[in-house]
Amino acid sequence: MPDPQSALEPLFRAAISKAFGDQHAATDPLIRPAQNDKFGDYQANVAMSLAKAVGAKPRDVATKIIEALDWKNVFAEPPTIAGPGFINIKLDRAFLEQTLAAAAGDERLGVPRAADPQTVVVDYSGPNVAKEMHVGHLRSSVIGDAIARVLDFEGHTVVRQNHLGDWGTQFGMLIEYMASMVNAGDETKINDLNAFYQQAKARFDADPTFAEAARKRVVLLQSGDAYSVGAWTRIVELSKRHFNSAYQPLGVKLSDADIRAESFYNPRLADTVAELEELGLTKVSDGAICVFPPGFAAENGEPLPLIIRKSDGGYLYATTDLAALRFRVRDLHADRIIYVTDSRQKQHFAMVFKTAELAGWTAGVKLEHVPFGSVLGEDGKPFKTRSGETVKLADLLNEAEERALKVVTDKSPELPTEQRQEVAHAVGIGAIKYADLANDRIKDYVFSWERMLSFDGNTAPYLQNAVVRIRSIFRKAATQNIKFDPAAPITLADPAERSLALRILQFPGVVNQVAQSLEPHRLCTYLYELASLYHGFYERCPVLTAPDGATRSSRLALSALTERVLKQGLDLLGIGVVDRM
Ligand code: ARG
Repeated sequence: MPDPQSALEPLFRAAISKAFGDQHAATDPLIRPAQNDKFGDYQANVAMSLAKAVGAKPRDVATKIIEALDWKNVFAEPPTIAGPGFINIKLDRAFLEQTLAAAAGDERLGVPRAADPQTVVVDYSGPNVAKEMHVGHLRSSVIGDAIARVLDFEGHTVVRQNHLGDWGTQFGMLIEYMASMVNAGDETKINDLNAFYQQAKARFDADPTFAEAARKRVVLLQSGDAYSVGAWTRIVELSKRHFNSAYQPLGVKLSDADIRAESFYNPRLADTVAELEELGLTKVSDGAICVFPPGFAAENGEPLPLIIRKSDGGYLYATTDLAALRFRVRDLHADRIIYVTDSRQKQHFAMVFKTAELAGWTAGVKLEHVPFGSVLGEDGKPFKTRSGETVKLADLLNEAEERALKVVTDKSPELPTEQRQEVAHAVGIGAIKYADLANDRIKDYVFSWERMLSFDGNTAPYLQNAVVRIRSIFRKAATQNIKFDPAAPITLADPAERSLALRILQFPGVVNQVAQSLEPHRLCTYLYELASLYHGFYERCPVLTAPDGATRSSRLALSALTERVLKQGLDLLGIGVVDRM
């Protein structure tokens, strides 16, 4: 049992059964790490909820539970009752040392595989073809990737889906513009898709003849006209290359195989609408086919429609999402579907989910929208370049590496250039990703180079530096010919060793919490605290100059274990580590 929480849960359940009967034993997790060490190591707050069910005072319930506990060798002393009926638990040192040894001997660091593995679709990134990826897509890519990594690590079958926006009326405009450029012999400009898009849009807005031709072009494209389809394919391919050139340096695990773009669902839209019609879920309103899912009202109190087919026969973003949802359930066999987009799409997904539920598509399937806030500049306004344009992702990543290179050069001028560049990459990209992950995702966050690249505080460089510190201890040990045995017994004599060990043992619980809540910032907070505890330990407890060989081995083993948790935790966030910096 490599994790105290999972050792304590069954003990408490057994005690509750014994004291109050089996029917009361099965509740949600009973035990959580204590917020403050004056409440012990762990705390159980089950007595309050149980009190109602058994008709007794919470403190009396707590007393009965404690009396019924079979806790030999687990607790240092009998648990105590605090406040309205919290049970405070202090773990026995030998028990901690044993659980720690088990975690050290486990390549998964005590994180269990999911007992009931699911197929989880994670829909993230979703940039739009012929448009520059912006910071919103960066957030979706980074948060979505962390969530996918955590679920993967838990042993679920993760199906990544990149719902590219590659379809819609704007393609008529783009293809028409492309045709005009080819005619003018000016085709090379197409490589800068963003500029290309903006020029096409300007022409569309200014030139009615062009606009009309663009509208006809949409019909041509949809009817499979060879030139139009060819041009569209080329635009999509160029965009994919552009997106991959961001995913690759970011270390976002999305490949072309994960793309299931809007156009994929095109042949399925009519059928999706027909199915909803047959189920009697649709109404025609001003010629448009709509669903009115209950619980959604416009500002004037009228029921809010989810339009699934316009009066001109055109389909919408919502129609594609309904077709995609149905496909994910029926063809991908999803048990859980996770959508990572900015919070402005909250209502869209709520209405799509409700409609799918009414259609009976989602029985036994968990649907979750994972919303996130905006990226703000230091002025508190939406993040823009100095001249007021949206920041291009590629420029942002380059700047991150440049700034990180400067930071690293200041700190370690002696490192060879090549190594400094490698470090700058890990630190720069890590800093951007970590800043995006470390805050509660629902909140807006302020983009600050200075803060994210700081070696102090809850940042990627701080965590990466903790790994570097530990690795340097081992390098030094090697030069002094000190043999290291990772399986050496760890003794927790000093309070700093004990606090560090307790935190290491909380890793499985935190990973599980992130898998449930889909909130990567919880893992960030945990790693930050772990690194801080390590620094505290390092100050108090000499490692290489420990008073005796056994203590030295123990402290080396504790350091190595800390390094593994930091590295694994950062990997789940999609952030790399380095040997020196
Ligand atoms: N392309 C969309 C956007 O840029 C995001 C797609 C999200 N996924 C989805 N299934 N709707 O806002």
